[in-house]
Amino acid sequence: MNKVKKAVIPAAGLGTRFLPATKAVPKEMLPILDKPTIQYIVEEAIESGIEDILIITSRGKEAIENHFDKAYELEDTLLKKEKHDLLEKVQKTSDINIHYIRQKEPLGLGHAILYAKKFVGDEPFGVMLGDDIVVNRDGAPCLKQMIDIYEKDKASVIGVKQVPDEEVSRYGIVKKTGKETDKASQVDELVEKPPLEEAPSNLAIMGRYVISPRVFELLEKTKPGSGGEIQLTDALNDLAKKESVVAYEFEGIRYDAGDLLGYLKTTVEFALHREDISEDFKKYLENLLNS
Ligand code: G1P
Repeated sequence: MNKVKKAVIPAAGLGTRFLPATKAVPKEMLPILDKPTIQYIVEEAIESGIEDILIITSRGKEAIENHFDKAYELEDTLLKKEKHDLLEKVQKTSDINIHYIRQKEPLGLGHAILYAKKFVGDEPFGVMLGDDIVVNRDGAPCLKQMIDIYEKDKASVIGVKQVPDEEVSRYGIVKKTGKETDKASQVDELVEKPPLEEAPSNLAIMGRYVISPRVFELLEKTKPGSGGEIQLTDALNDLAKKESVVAYEFEGIRYDAGDLLGYLKTTVEFALHREDISEDFKKYLENLLNS
């Protein structure tokens, strides 16, 4: 079975980098312009051909479920008032097959992904991390590019980008074997957040994966690693010893919406690309910088 039709979006984190905003609002619901960050991820999944999405939540994340539910009263009001453009925006999030499960304790990304075992079954699946928003304005969405590689090379695919030395210890890092496939490279080692001196390369994992279901039996045995947490990267390192795993430098810009500065940069760049406000916003920025 080779078609990738399911994706998992972990959204159980506490969002401590955005406190106090995230005391009562899940960080995945913080908007970039007028859309919650998690909606960008869900839209990328759908545009990549994903038919079922599992969001792994935790206590206090009810707003995510409400966001992707049908808002009957709101839709009815917008219809009666003939606000068709707004209605279209609201309906865009209410007709998607999204499933939810709660991670009971915050024991790490690998532990969260293990909750997807039953949902995934014996199929390959996508994993999309909510802090990483990827935009490929002129071509296929990031996950779609990776699914195409999975289906062709029959290998799990890790989405990567080069990062400068000073950022290496913030990411999972992959080591290539030197064996290249058409678009990707075989991987023989993955290390979670290594110090620069121990990092096998500058190729960082960027929150997009297409993974073979065999990863679950490995995740079940994965011991706590970096930060005392059960790491997906460690299970993928074990997987690379048993099956083919490749790293793929995807096309598109990756925005890091996971910390304050990254979130601000993402917001500004998205505003500069948004037709209805970009001209006015550009003028405002120019005036601001020249004053
Ligand atoms: C997670 C992964 C890490 C990856 C990163 C990308 O780390 O564990 O391998 O490089 O996402 O954003 P986190 O940033 O959630 O600690």
